[in-house]
Amino acid sequence: MEQRLAMIGFGTVGQALARILLERGEELKRKEGYSARITAISDTVKGALYHPDGLDLSSVFRSLEEAGTLDAYPDTVGLKRDWDSLKTIRETNADTVVEVTFTNVDTGQPAIDHCRAAFEAGKNVVTTNKGPVALAYRELSSLAAENGVGWGFEGTVMSGTPALRMPRTALAGDRIREIRGILNGTSNYILTRMEEGKSLEEALSEARSKGYAEADPTSDLEGFDALYKVMILSEVVLGVPLDRNEVERVGIAQLSAEDIRGAKEEGKRWKVLGRLREEGGRVIASVKPVPIPETDPLAGVRGALNALTYECDLLGPVTLVGAGAGRSETGFALLADLINIRRQYP
Ligand code: HSE
Repeated sequence: MEQRLAMIGFGTVGQALARILLERGEELKRKEGYSARITAISDTVKGALYHPDGLDLSSVFRSLEEAGTLDAYPDTVGLKRDWDSLKTIRETNADTVVEVTFTNVDTGQPAIDHCRAAFEAGKNVVTTNKGPVALAYRELSSLAAENGVGWGFEGTVMSGTPALRMPRTALAGDRIREIRGILNGTSNYILTRMEEGKSLEEALSEARSKGYAEADPTSDLEGFDALYKVMILSEVVLGVPLDRNEVERVGIAQLSAEDIRGAKEEGKRWKVLGRLREEGGRVIASVKPVPIPETDPLAGVRGALNALTYECDLLGPVTLVGAGAGRSETGFALLADLINIRRQYP
């Protein structure tokens, strides 16, 4: 059966998913037996559209290019404008909500309310917003289970790289004693460019234009983005909830070009490492810049790439290296979640 999607938020990530669906629709049908249509879009800046038979994505993109809003979308029967997001979630005929709003990561809102409303209305949710998973994982997963629907959030950590799915499926049965890695693409990109002689400001502006940085890049520079990913890993992979105040956090703002050059002369590289270690049922966690020897595999992770090493009891260390940010990379995370939900809840 075809999935019907309501896009709540239609910024960088939402549009990336819509482009993938537009460009690869036929291939997804043929290779994965997967098909989807977008029946609603609700975006506070660009406007809102609804059509029960599905919106024509080419017209949606044309409308955005021409007017910067959805207003230029040609009128069709059933089209409604200016829906509010909760109303869209409850009233559309979509079975799955793609929650990609601009959400305040400290409160998790409005994404948490969107997830609640969707689950209560018996709809699946896929999201790349960290707040709902970092701050309300237990409540929301119970709500999804009670309503017999799926919840996908792979894109919250390492974009489409399966940082959550891999340990939960392929490492099931082993004990993960420690997780450490590079969890913020923007700060890793900036550190890499600073090693090449760029200033922090220049490197940040490049990271923004490539779509890596958060809307408010303070979250990247001061380590909050990585901190929330550490909280997600603790809850979802280690099964231990972690309060944000329990995570030691240091950003890259205080690192100077001199620190970076000095480390290079000593054969080291600065990396912002997220670390989680289980000790007696508790998790000790931190996010901070650390000079690591060039011989360490994590030292070779450059640009916006992310990496995570899972230290397992039976299997030993397993390292995953891949995209940590980016438009199509994060759009892909949503697609993989959608396909997996379709397989699990046919
Ligand atoms: N701003 C984030 C990063 C995006 O740079 O890693 C992915 O969460």
